[in-house]
Amino acid sequence: MREPIRPVTWTGSAIRVIDQTALPARLVMLDLDTVDAVVDAISRLAVRGAPQLGVIGAIGVVVALDQAARERWDPVRLDREIQRIREARPTAVNLAWGVDQVADLVGDGRSAVLARALAILDADARGNRAMGVLGADWIQARVARGRVRALTHCNAGALATAGWGTALGVLRELHARGALELVHVDETRPLLQGARLTAWELARDGIPFVLQADSAAASAILGRLVDVAVVGADRIAANGDTANKVGTLGVALAARDAGIPFLVAAPRSTIDRATADGSAIVVEQRGASEVTSLGAVVIAPDGAGVWNPAFDVTPARLISAIVTEAEVIEVAAGQVP
Ligand code: MRU
Repeated sequence: MREPIRPVTWTGSAIRVIDQTALPARLVMLDLDTVDAVVDAISRLAVRGAPQLGVIGAIGVVVALDQAARERWDPVRLDREIQRIREARPTAVNLAWGVDQVADLVGDGRSAVLARALAILDADARGNRAMGVLGADWIQARVARGRVRALTHCNAGALATAGWGTALGVLRELHARGALELVHVDETRPLLQGARLTAWELARDGIPFVLQADSAAASAILGRLVDVAVVGADRIAANGDTANKVGTLGVALAARDAGIPFLVAAPRSTIDRATADGSAIVVEQRGASEVTSLGAVVIAPDGAGVWNPAFDVTPARLISAIVTEAEVIEVAAGQVP
């Protein structure tokens, strides 16, 4: 097994991240040392994935404090800049959670904020290992085949977290046990997080996979090529309704029809008890060019109208279970987060 991917580190003066827009062609690191750089990286998905956004949100407050000291911001300006980080993307609750975890410590000084932010980074990577074990146990108890065939959507891997991954953490654990046959990776239009990022991670770590168009997911599931679907989450409402990358809902519907388990893997920081159900989750709408172009190539006529929700909401009734770093919530059996 290769050295684990470390997508986020603190250099002492900047957040060092993998620029996910450059993968898989190039492995490029970015140093984020201003609030503008942090907000820009979040907005254009150079950093992404709900748990990773939580970590970036927390360390981003240190970046804001350092910039405030350099540029002599008053407390009102500092507060405004921290809010900009908190609101850079609306759906992943982890981003606001990460900022809120450290914002109360601003009065105690930079080192208190930094210590808490780095603890969040460590806890995320460690929690994913625990989640992987719980999720793999859960799957092995339900899937009769000795070697499981799984489907995943988007990227819920090391690149979406501080390391290891949530859904991919579960699949990595199955692989380490010799209990994973194949992963069907949805390419994940429009920004291709599955093709560009999940496929990169699995290839790098020697985990067998096939890449498929999103539109092939339903026939793979109903055609009995897949034993379980495992995905991440951006926000889990109090009743278990779950927002994740657009296309997840179709996977859940197909899994229900085929009678295979649909497992959501996410840290507890993704659970938003203040949101009663999925209808209250704000789904980020993104720019038209993400749909009308593939990279630099325009694939739609000029002026085509576009609907580009970045996420969809899977109702709790379609979810078998939610696995966190601490527990498995048996949603199908009536448990709520
Ligand atoms: O728009 P993205 O790439 O940030 O969307 C990411 C997802 O939808 C992931 O599945 C989710 O954040 C879980 S990551 C562990």
